Amino acid sequence: MEWTDHGFRMLDQRRLPHQEVWLELHSWFEVAEAIRNMTVRGAPAIGIAAAFGMALAVRHGEDREVADRGLRASRPTAVNLFIALDRIKNVPDSEVLQEAQAIEAEDLAINEAIGQHGLRFLNEIRPGPKRILTICNTGAVATAGLGTALGIIRVLHRHNLVAEVLSCETRPRQQGLRLTAWELLRESIPFRSIVDSAAAFAMASKQVDVVIVGADRIARNGDTANKIGTLSLAVLAHHYRIPFVVAAPSTTFDSALADGRGIPIEERDAEEITEIEGERVAPAGTPVWNPGFDVTPGDLISAIISEQSIYQAPFAFGVGQ
Ligand code: MRU
Repeated sequence: MEWTDHGFRMLDQRRLPHQEVWLELHSWFEVAEAIRNMTVRGAPAIGIAAAFGMALAVRHGEDREVADRGLRASRPTAVNLFIALDRIKNVPDSEVLQEAQAIEAEDLAINEAIGQHGLRFLNEIRPGPKRILTICNTGAVATAGLGTALGIIRVLHRHNLVAEVLSCETRPRQQGLRLTAWELLRESIPFRSIVDSAAAFAMASKQVDVVIVGADRIARNGDTANKIGTLSLAVLAHHYRIPFVVAAPSTTFDSALADGRGIPIEERDAEEITEIEGERVAPAGTPVWNPGFDVTPGDLISAIISEQSIYQAPFAFGVGQ
């Protein structure tokens, strides 16, 4: 993402990996739409985009309350969006852009710190090169830079500690197949893409040392909302006794929620499932349930790594942690 004299530029993630198209947005409304239609996606990235959306509102002298409400309505699950907007709410017009830029710069530093904590923790639990299974995209395009789960993988790779990444396709939007594969290829990190349903067999056939995923919202007891399919991976990892690690910045922790029951789960359009590349695959009239996220209970998570610390189960955030 890039702020210029003309507007707010962002890489259109819907067009990746085949086309690298930069869009220039000129209003908070366009930013809200870009978040909703997943031009920009990934919890930290949508928080940053929303903050710059507010900077566009200020630039054009628009009603800040209307812009704030519109941006909040764009996507419900990732709390980073709301935390960024809460932060912007408290600053005067003259400082909104500066605050948005600070949120972005902080996220970059946070990613690096998560990477370093991840390196330390994973080397403790599994010395030597690791085979890592991940889902969705938690990388450069989902954050200000390095990434969270993928940031840890990047840092491990710098130390030659990635034997292989197994990257789940991530139905239905294929963030793993399109975006994570694109990022891993660019960095020459060894990986293979798998369909989501191959994860069980990968674990059963001892091809996975650790599962690392990102998060969209973490409750005080460690219950974690992340991309749909994450819960299946956690249940499987528990069954096969494989460590299951969540990597997320502190802007993903929701201190208002005691547990995951209060996390709003986005439900997306049926066409994401019934169609592939605009072509209908399912018979017309097929009823669909398309939740974008699921909630993994904290007791299935071995560790949660933020920029501040490595937290191990049982989790009690906000109570001495
Ligand atoms: O629907 P998406 O692609 O925005 O969902 C993204 C995820 O679930 C990521 O794992 C999460 O936002 C963390 S990104 C660092």
